[in-house]
Amino acid sequence: MEKKDIDWGNLGFGYQKTDFRFVSEYKGGKWDDGVLTEDDKIVMSECAGVLQYAQTVFEGLKAYTTEQGDIVTFRPDLNASRLEDSAKRLEMPPFPQDRFVEAVKKTVAANAAYVPPYGSGATLYVRPFMFGKNPVIGVKPADEYEFRIFCTPVGPYFKGGVKPLTICVSDFDRAAPHGTGHIKAGLNYAMSLHAIQTAHRNGFDENMYLDPATRTKVEETGGANFLFVTKDNTIVTPKSDSILPSITRRSLMYVAEHYLGLKVEQREVAFTELKDFAECGLCGTAAVISPVGKVVNHGEEVCFPSGMTEMGPVTKKLYDTLTGIQMGRLEAPEGWICKIQ
Ligand code: PLP
Ligand code: COI
Repeated sequence: MEKKDIDWGNLGFGYQKTDFRFVSEYKGGKWDDGVLTEDDKIVMSECAGVLQYAQTVFEGLKAYTTEQGDIVTFRPDLNASRLEDSAKRLEMPPFPQDRFVEAVKKTVAANAAYVPPYGSGATLYVRPFMFGKNPVIGVKPADEYEFRIFCTPVGPYFKGGVKPLTICVSDFDRAAPHGTGHIKAGLNYAMSLHAIQTAHRNGFDENMYLDPATRTKVEETGGANFLFVTKDNTIVTPKSDSILPSITRRSLMYVAEHYLGLKVEQREVAFTELKDFAECGLCGTAAVISPVGKVVNHGEEVCFPSGMTEMGPVTKKLYDTLTGIQMGRLEAPEGWICKIQ
């Protein structure tokens, strides 16, 4: 199979239409078989549930070309189960998890020409999502839904690749206590847009959100979980009911413990503790691990000892191990790598 003529090394994190997407419709209480289609357009009522009341949930995962030349994805079963949790919270009919994994495989295989070559630094980002499609005017769940998966080749999420980021503590909250912060719903991202634009206008790369109830504990950013390294090399990650359970973070905690022999802790992290950490990173599918050099809270700066030029040494080891597993350079734990072709 011949690859598309794309400048893989210079891709940013943007959308580029590929040849195929998977579409399945939910009508009369059941999901149809679904098809691969070349049609990237969606036609629906102006009154569709998604347009009026934001009834939509999504996932994000990546396909890679390994050192051996295989095309693989990373733990798609966890995306399938998280999409089910998200759907249930918004009263949407879950797309069956086994069919989710099959549909991801089919979509990636159909777009194999867009999977960046090994070593190019780029990956194929896969975006499964579902939304309420029929007209809804009283506030209630839709009766008809569409599940769709498209792909797009991407480079690094943050411009500058692995250069440490400067982030600010947001004055806005991302999630309410007992709200929807723990699911991947479009509504969480819509309400973060003003906060991220404000951060960018003020010269910051990202926001750090604090817990909405007390604003004393670290939660996450708009698109990634936090991971901290203590001065004695323990990996610490915030525990909270209002953050998204990142698959990358869960994988890194396992890698830290079982591959690198580090101690790991998932616990509440007070904002006042930040100054005691040696390293900080953002972890997520899009972000992979992006190092944080500095956190600014209304002019007060916390500068991590790892500095503003390079990834800290422990963050780097985690990054190398995780990407080594994803790219086939290191043996993966059972079930983590899903081979497509
Ligand atoms: N937190 C938020 C708010 C996100 O949008 C994402 C991205 O998916 C993550 C964390 C990271 O999750 P994952 O590692 O599963 O991509
Ligand atoms: C991902 O990492 O897959 C995400 O969904 C983050 C998104 C904000 C791009």
